[in-house]
Amino acid sequence: MGWVLIVVSLVVLWVASLCKILRGSSSPSRSLFLNTGGALPKRNVLLVVAHPDDESMFFSPTISYLTSRGHNLHVLCLSIGNADGKGDIRKEELLRACAILKVPLQQVKILDHPDLQDGFGRVWNHTLLAKIIEGEIISYGIDSIITFDNYGVSGHCNHRDVHYGVCKFLHDTSQGTIEAWELVSTNILRKYTGPLDIWLSILHAMQHSGEVMHCLLNERPQKSFLAMAQHSSQWVWFRKLFVAFSSYTYVNTLRKISCM
Ligand SMILES: *[C@@H]1O[C@H](CO)[C@@H](O)[C@H](O)[C@H]1NC(C)=O
Repeated sequence: MGWVLIVVSLVVLWVASLCKILRGSSSPSRSLFLNTGGALPKRNVLLVVAHPDDESMFFSPTISYLTSRGHNLHVLCLSIGNADGKGDIRKEELLRACAILKVPLQQVKILDHPDLQDGFGRVWNHTLLAKIIEGEIISYGIDSIITFDNYGVSGHCNHRDVHYGVCKFLHDTSQGTIEAWELVSTNILRKYTGPLDIWLSILHAMQHSGEVMHCLLNERPQKSFLAMAQHSSQWVWFRKLFVAFSSYTYVNTLRKISCM
């Protein structure tokens, strides 16, 4: 009998959490992210990821937040994800996903650099990454960067190197006005709690409130699912499960990077 009660409670909690997300009720810091209300209401934001599908699997709450508030979002994907030889297909899939996520396609750049190839055990040169990122910042007048944290959600070395590349750029740059944010990696238990994780994320962000941490709820999780579905070559049953159960489909916690 006990387990029935547990299952029922979990289902109720799950539905309640989903309702909260879909109703769009906000956490205290949520509406303030990148919105200082001052002279610079709209930002030029650069999202830096490692592989096609990172944007939909991990960052879709952030992307939805930014595009729905009129910020100008650029996406830099540092590889075509060619570990299985499907790079050319995956590149097209990323463009289709970005169309769903309302990122203008001319603002999506996908690199295929010989030194930055997809794969475990492939070390990406942080200096090279920093140079590439700097080029984008200058070309598009970027004032805010968003990327992985030093664990990179899944611990994938390419994700982690992207983080260190951004850090290297921040460390070396003379443009002190650029702010950078990292997607906080949650532990394995929280990672698969789906919408339930919003409560922990909100609490966590409140404890570190204001300037340094923001919790963004995904107002349109259906859209994340649809965006992920554009990555047909990756859209196998376990990824469908991942997207449904992953907390990153419902909430992103962003922390200001301070790796000076
Ligand atoms: C890393 O990239 C920089 C800049 O492109 C280059 O000067 C340096 O030699 C590279 N380091 C390694 C270990 O390949």
